Amino acid sequence: MKDLFDKIYKDKGPLGKWASVAEGYFVFPKLEGPIANRMGFHGREVITWSVNDYLGLANHPEVRKVDAQAAADYGSAYPMGARMMSGHTDLHEQLQNELAEFVNKEAAYLLNFGYQGCMSTIDALVSKDDVIVYDVDAHACIIDGVRLHQGKRFTYKHNDLESIEKNLQRATKIASETGGGILVISEGVFGMRGEQGKLKEIVALKEKYNFRLFVDDAHGFGTLGKTGAGAGEEQGVQDQIDVYFATFAKSLASTGAFIAADQEIIDYLKYNLRSQMFAKSLQMQLVVGALKRLDMLRTMPELKDKLWENVNALQSGLKARGFDIGTTQSCVTPVYLKGSIPEAMALVKDLRENYGIFCSIVVYPVIPKGLILLRLIPTATHTMQDIEETLDAFDAIRTRLDSGVYKRLSAAVAEAFA
Ligand SMILES: Cc1ncc(COP(=O)(O)O)c(C=O)c1O
Repeated sequence: MKDLFDKIYKDKGPLGKWASVAEGYFVFPKLEGPIANRMGFHGREVITWSVNDYLGLANHPEVRKVDAQAAADYGSAYPMGARMMSGHTDLHEQLQNELAEFVNKEAAYLLNFGYQGCMSTIDALVSKDDVIVYDVDAHACIIDGVRLHQGKRFTYKHNDLESIEKNLQRATKIASETGGGILVISEGVFGMRGEQGKLKEIVALKEKYNFRLFVDDAHGFGTLGKTGAGAGEEQGVQDQIDVYFATFAKSLASTGAFIAADQEIIDYLKYNLRSQMFAKSLQMQLVVGALKRLDMLRTMPELKDKLWENVNALQSGLKARGFDIGTTQSCVTPVYLKGSIPEAMALVKDLRENYGIFCSIVVYPVIPKGLILLRLIPTATHTMQDIEETLDAFDAIRTRLDSGVYKRLSAAVAEAFA
């Protein structure tokens, strides 16, 4: 008989196998200093394009002041226990009410973490007779939520309406046999490539098919729509999203998350969300901090304006210089280049060491073989100088990539990190 750990000793997994060459640099890098447009990395200053602090709240002096005061007032323990038992407070309720109002829903409920909360919401919404239809590019927390489901599930091709409809037909057939319902799941913004989910078109299918729509709007909340209420507001269909989810981990620059829906749905979820029923309540520091951040979202539209000024300058600058930024419809800015994984590593090292640009790198199997995706996250704290320097750096590394510099260097890079 095999030892359970045999597979672990032999195979570190699709990402873990790169650990010896990548750890500490390409993965688990340590950015130093306060969260900002420029931070420290390996002893030098870099322009940071990999932090989801869209509105620049992470290190905003007013936010820091409120966070510090909340820590002094409540410490990190308060309140103790799960919401249902002993961890419920007026401020938790106030935050829920304000979040619901902000995203134009009747009610909201707090989640300790987006990831678990999203999984748990999916789990609570479906029973074994129901059918889930979801985008194949969905975030891992959606995929894991779907894994908990004991009934049928179908993926549709990313943002492909024909595929959505085909799968809705299959789901309808099954659900009418089992006596269940259908849950469709999309993201508001797909975080790798920046495309918005086709919410408007999905919602239009409600005329033909009977389903409920769950939207994970992690990247849309605070960045899209007139008031920042997200992708649903941007596309004019917020009222047709049956269950809206967003995390505090991006625009709100904190920890925690929430779901928002009709009152009756939230009333049900608060008694059935296992991730909240059996876990300690969101700490008060985070609740007070989120109230402050939400207030800033409401009262300081200039933060979102500045974000979009930067997004537009970066995206139009890249396009004007002939870069392929795909089909992004959000702040997420992908830059697609052609090359192998070792070339991508040499290129990113060059960007960081010699041009002072820090961005995330995505390669196969997340994207097709032979493509390199450099993912830039503009924020309200970036400056026009940051953008100009970055555009010049991208020009330079593209020339070096095309002339084979990274191909030659890549063998040495792999060795140096071995
Ligand atoms: C689309 C999406 N959903 C959910 C999450 C998980 O949220 P959290 O970081 O609050 O666990 C993330 C990442 O933060 C995300 O990008």
